[in-house]
Amino acid sequence: MAASATSKLLVSDIASVVDHVPSNYVRPISDRPNMSEVETSGETIPLIDLQDLHGPNRADIINQFAHACSSYGFFQIKNHGVPEETIKRMMNVAREFFKRQPESERVKHYSADTKKTTRLSTSFNVCKEKVSNWRDFLRLHCYPIEDFINEWPSTPLSFREVTAEYATSVRALVLTLLEAISESLGLPKDRVSKTLGKHGQHMAINYYPPCPQPELTYGLPGHKDANLITVLLQDDVSGLQVFKDDKWVAVKPVPNTFIVNLGDQMQVISNDKYKSVLHRAVVNSDKERISIPTFYCPSEDAVISPAQELINEEEDSPAIYRSFTYAEYFEKFWDTAFATESCVDSFKASTN
Ligand code: OGA
Ligand code: NI
Repeated sequence: MAASATSKLLVSDIASVVDHVPSNYVRPISDRPNMSEVETSGETIPLIDLQDLHGPNRADIINQFAHACSSYGFFQIKNHGVPEETIKRMMNVAREFFKRQPESERVKHYSADTKKTTRLSTSFNVCKEKVSNWRDFLRLHCYPIEDFINEWPSTPLSFREVTAEYATSVRALVLTLLEAISESLGLPKDRVSKTLGKHGQHMAINYYPPCPQPELTYGLPGHKDANLITVLLQDDVSGLQVFKDDKWVAVKPVPNTFIVNLGDQMQVISNDKYKSVLHRAVVNSDKERISIPTFYCPSEDAVISPAQELINEEEDSPAIYRSFTYAEYFEKFWDTAFATESCVDSFKASTN
């Protein structure tokens, strides 16, 4: 759908002209961020240094993966191999897309159709949800790049080149992470990668404008990612929170590190050895925030099920999930629109 520049589709259109949050963004009292209960200092998520991953200390680093994946499902990585310049250029072009070009350019890409492979939208799924979220986003499919690059925005002029370079570099990083995670599960290093069919990679550029009453709404409410593994780049503004041991923990941005979190497909493939973790994004009253998650996933036709090696019917570790195609899963994920926190529960073997 091509939208006219005057229709107020995006939250960035209204953020600068309101001094109250419009009622369709206001959460019920029982479902608000409640910042006084959020852990902002002290406990944080593990940091893994990938410098030594290919050296003599590999076993030690793999142990760090096993610990981070089983006890947190969330970790930070440094010395990840994505050049600082590539990251800087990606962040700049993202900011330019949302901030420094006319709204009329941007809204050309607007669509509420969750099946479109390149689209600008707002909230999460505007067709299904009851309360909207204080977020606009551009979502792109980016692997294989040549299948999608011609539908990506062509302005700013460097958008395609910069985004392609970033996506390629992050994909190489993800393939390294998948090997380490496979090994950390006691599997051959190519095992997880081989379950993903032809592989898929999506990315989002999330734009969270300043919000006059951030205590009433979310940038994104608590959710788990549907894909396999997410590699998040964020600017220097806080907002991401992770649910750990019954409380929300704020994740402080650290320059040149990525945040990695496991998604539902990792939970299924590992047969619950590793869990997809609940996380959310809050907004604030004085600063906009940009985050750029890469969602690495199976191709749509890939059939996903728990890894055979991790299943043993006799020893009390039966398959917890039935098999399904990623296309089936992904459709369900968008349809439920975070109404249930855990899409993965509806793919349990017992509910077959
Ligand atoms: C997401 C997400 C977190 C953030 O886009 O799925 O969890 O900090 N984003 O923007
Ligand atoms: Ni997420």
